[in-house]
Order: sequence, then structure tokens, then C-alpha cells
Amino acid sequence: MTDKLRFALIGCGVIGPTHAEAINSLPDAELVAVADIVPARAQKLADEYGVNAYTDIQEMLARERLDVVNVCVPSGLHGEIACQAMRAGKHVIIEKPMEIRLETIDEMLRVQRETNRKMAVISQHRFDPASMHVHQLLEEQAFGRLVLGNALVPWWRSQAYYDSGAWRGTWALDGGGVLMNQAIHSIDLLQWLMGPVKSIYAYTDTLVHSVETEDVAVAVLRFTNGALGTIVATTGAYPGVSTRIEIFGDKGSAIIEDDHLSYLHLAREDQEEIGAYGTTGKNVGARHSGEDEAPLAGTQANETDSTAQNPAALSFRSHALQIADMIRAIREDGTPLVDGYAARRSVEIILGIYESARTHKEVILT
Ligand SMILES: NC(=O)c1ccc[n+]([C@@H]2O[C@H](COP(=O)([O-])OP(=O)(O)OC[C@H]3O[C@@H](n4cnc5c(N)ncnc54)[C@H](O)[C@@H]3O)[C@@H](O)[C@H]2O)c1
Repeated sequence: MTDKLRFALIGCGVIGPTHAEAINSLPDAELVAVADIVPARAQKLADEYGVNAYTDIQEMLARERLDVVNVCVPSGLHGEIACQAMRAGKHVIIEKPMEIRLETIDEMLRVQRETNRKMAVISQHRFDPASMHVHQLLEEQAFGRLVLGNALVPWWRSQAYYDSGAWRGTWALDGGGVLMNQAIHSIDLLQWLMGPVKSIYAYTDTLVHSVETEDVAVAVLRFTNGALGTIVATTGAYPGVSTRIEIFGDKGSAIIEDDHLSYLHLAREDQEEIGAYGTTGKNVGARHSGEDEAPLAGTQANETDSTAQNPAALSFRSHALQIADMIRAIREDGTPLVDGYAARRSVEIILGIYESARTHKEVILT
């Protein structure tokens, strides 16, 4: 039997414990150390898992026998810490966003090539069955010509959330507001499903919270395949409503609400012509999605354990699937589904939105 891969995580705040749980849920992974500059946070998580706690990352990297380091610190520190870990010979799994500036991202990719380490960036919703299923259908061209792709993130975060960490809602360390921190998941899914974005026109504003960065944003997109799209996001929508990803083509349409496929209709499944005016009926989904009928039946209107309202409500399961994908990549010398090059795209779109909102001009992505 192959040895378990040995993991450490850096940053024991909100998301660190999700990584710990996800790592230890996998048969061929084990958590061996944790680090945080706040000693009590590192110690608490270390005690829970019976592993070593560190406040000095270099000491942990030097002392522990590690294969993979998970980077769970504030977003604007991802590059520095990931590069430290790669230079120490470790593979890295980095929380989203990969980093907040493209220059730093390009330096991370350079260090990755130089050290020949694997890098994965968390975008756990790509591993939800609904996203996987719609992506597979898109690969089969099942939606025909794509015309429209929308991402809607009407979430709620209180002022207390922003005040819970000095880095939250700052340009220097969060790198942005609702787009860079919350909506990045949906932006990554939208561009993964619809294909690359070519140009952007956007408005952003800060309407509800006392923060530097935006808490509402609307962007109009043109994809390289010619389709149009929108990104609409806020953390000011009380009490926080389901995320929607909508994919529309001339041979089919799909809607993912949170991580459930709530609508899917494909021309190839129609028993008869739908006529000149279309239909709102679903024709497939349950048979293909790998889920039973219940999750396909629609939104969960009274859901209270959703990340639309509470970031700590996150289940570790999608993180576990993504960590398993990284383990596969390491063992087979392959590429993780969301490597650094894939993760760069969502940050590039978000920075393009900020530029368009600032300059009141269309931004063309290179
Ligand atoms: N994938 C998701 O759904 C998801 C959810 C939440 C957060 N995140 C991402 O995870 C990252 C962390 O977010 P969070 O909400 O857990 O933040 P947090 O503030 O709750 O936790 C960050 C931790 O990092 C520690 N830290 C800061 N600088 C450090 C350093 N130099 N060395 C070691 N430890 C250091 C802090 O003391 C803190 O405990 C962010 O990039 C965020 O975008 C992802």
C-alpha cells in the first residue's frame, strides 16, 4: 500500500479547519502540522487533530516531513507563503483567490515551474455534481450555440463579518470586495462553463458596508465564443439568497442554484418539437445528474445553513474532492483540475471589472 501524503496547513481561521477535516477524511492523506501567527489558533486546531502547532512557518517547513502545504491565510499573503512552501520543496493547495494581483500570480507560476511542484487553487464548486454534469454536457456541445451565461450572487455579510478580521474588505489584503472574496466561486464556474471572457463593462459600488472595497457589482461580458453574459453580485442582499449560474444556448439551457441543478432542458432529449414559443418545462436532469429528484426540484427557500449567509456553513466535502484531485495529480504526475493557470483567469476577470468600473471604459482581456 502507498504511504499517505503528509499535509500541513498555514492559517487556522475560518477556512483552515475545513481543510483539516477534508484532509483527514481522505484515506491517503494525513494532517501532520498546522501554523498560524496567532499561537492560540494554531494550538487549538493542533490539539483537535493531535498534530504539531507552529507560529513560525520556516520552522515548520524545516522540521516536518511534508508533501503538501495548504495555504489558508488572507488572500494578499497567498503568493508569498505559497512560494516559500514551493521553494522548500512542497506541493501547494492555495485558497481562492490564487492571489490579488496578476504580477504576483505570474511570479507564483514562475516559482512553480522553477521548483517543479504541483499547485492547485481551491474552487471547490467545480467539484459539485451539478457543475461537473453541466460541464460534461457543454463538452458534448449539448447546448448548441451558447448565447448567454449569467452568474448571480445575492449574498449577505454583516458589518460584524467585515470587522471580524482587519484584512476583510481591504484592497491590500482582500484585494477587492464581493467579487474577489465571495463571487469568485461563481465567476470561476461561469468562465469554466462558458469559456474565456473577451471583454467587460462594469459598475461597482459600496452601498451598505463601511469597507474600502465594493459590496455590489454588475458586469456585462462578451465571451470569446461570441456569447454575452452578466455577473451580478452583492454582500448587501439581506438575508442572503441562493447563487445562480445560468447557461443558455439554442439547443438547451441549464440553471445551477447553489450546488443543485435546478433546471435542465436539452433539445436532444425532446420527444417532439417544442413549437415556436418554447416551453419552461424541464426534460432531463435527474436521469443524468447523478443526483436524485430532490436536489433538482428547485431552491431551498428557507435554507439557513448556506454560505449565502454564513461563510462558516461550508461543508468540507467539496474541498475533500478537490484535495483528492490534487493527490491524484501528485501520484500520477498529472495536472490538478484547477491549477495556477486555470485559477489566474477568474482573478483576471475580476481585475478587469475593477478597471472598467474605475475608468468607465470597456476592458478587453488579453
Ligand atoms: N473556498 C472557500 O469557500 C473559502 C471560504 C472562506 C475563506 N476562503 C479563503 O481562505 C483565506 C482565509 O480566509 P479566512 O476567512 O479563513 O480568514 P481568517 O482571517 O479567518 O483566517 C486567516 C488566518 O491566517 C492567519 N495568518 C495571517 N497571516 C499569517 C501568516 N503570515 N502566517 C501564518 N498565519 C497567518 C490569521 O491569524 C488567521 O488565523 C482567504 O484567502 C479566503 O478568500 C475560502
